Amino acid sequence: MSELWDPWQISEGAFPKPGASSEKLRFLLNYAVLAPSNHNAQPWLFRIMSDGIELYADRTRALPVVDPEDRELTIGCGAALFNLRIAFRNFGYEGVVRSFPDAHKPDLLARISFGDGKVATAEEHGLFESIVKRRTNRMPFRTQPIKESLLSELEAAAAKEGAWFQVVLGDENRNRLADLIAEADRVQMSDGHFRRELAAWIHPSRTASHDGTPGYAIGYGGLASYLGPLVVRTFDMGKGQAAKDRQLATGSPVMAVLSTENDTSADWLSAGQAMMRVLLRARVDDVWASFLNQPIEIPELRTQVRDLLGKKSFPQLILRMGYGQDVKPTPRRTPGEALMRERIR
Ligand SMILES: Cc1cc2nc3c(=O)[nH]c(=O)nc-3n(C[C@H](O)[C@H](O)[C@H](O)COP(=O)(O)O)c2cc1C
Repeated sequence: MSELWDPWQISEGAFPKPGASSEKLRFLLNYAVLAPSNHNAQPWLFRIMSDGIELYADRTRALPVVDPEDRELTIGCGAALFNLRIAFRNFGYEGVVRSFPDAHKPDLLARISFGDGKVATAEEHGLFESIVKRRTNRMPFRTQPIKESLLSELEAAAAKEGAWFQVVLGDENRNRLADLIAEADRVQMSDGHFRRELAAWIHPSRTASHDGTPGYAIGYGGLASYLGPLVVRTFDMGKGQAAKDRQLATGSPVMAVLSTENDTSADWLSAGQAMMRVLLRARVDDVWASFLNQPIEIPELRTQVRDLLGKKSFPQLILRMGYGQDVKPTPRRTPGEALMRERIR
């Protein structure tokens, strides 16, 4: 990460309270850009309007091999939207959202405007404070279980955003899910196109790049992080990855699937907001999460994940959760870099 720009150090006190609307809106974007996205591609663009912000899908940042329909791209944008909503609330604005406000502009995912003044609740402040504390934590977690009461709250958090958060219960189901994850790893890693796409987004740990995944975030320290992209591009490491992920899946206190009733762009945007509400709520209680979405990225295996849940739904994400040590945050583009430049037609 560049020495000068540390997006995670954003301070609430720097909000330009007496400033112009445009300054305030631009400040709020500092929280939107901290959202997670697959490969840290940050597939969002923002446009500052007179009283709000437009959120666009940036399809030039799509991942056509792993995410050919832009499903995960839209989930990432939903996560950025949720951060924005919580930031509006934290600074005393209602934050009124209209999703897909223009049928002629499929890339325009949402408009969010100030709305009325509204004091934030303690819950909203808590979620806001978690934005800078969240990371994808791929390290093994302690065996310490997560309390039932928190799991119920995570279910409620997803439901509030129109999605299901379902904990996978019982050894048989967990093992079956771990098998599907391992199988998906082997399928994906044997595909040269998948490996090339993945390698293109992995950067050395000391990267100055504002996007992509630095080696340290996926377990390649120092020198190995320089070789990581070459290794990923060149060798089928499916077997090793499968074994590692199987262990992570069976060894984590909680494995959960986030699903939606349908599988449209609107569902993906909701899934992203639900995911973010869940991840932030989890961080309020010091719980970490990371993703093992691989089987959902392969249509035949996605159906099997759905069967395992016993619910007629569309699985969108697989999360592992638990307690563990903090990890280093990953880079981000500045709000300025994520602003829409060209004229909208
Ligand atoms: C829709 C979506 C899919 C993701 N899929 C994976 C995944 O399959 N494996 C993984 O290790 N991380 C996955 N991630 C996590 C991203 O790699 C991570 O968010 C990104 O590198 C930024 O890092 P951060 O979350 O620590 O800020 C996913 C994130 C999102 C939002």
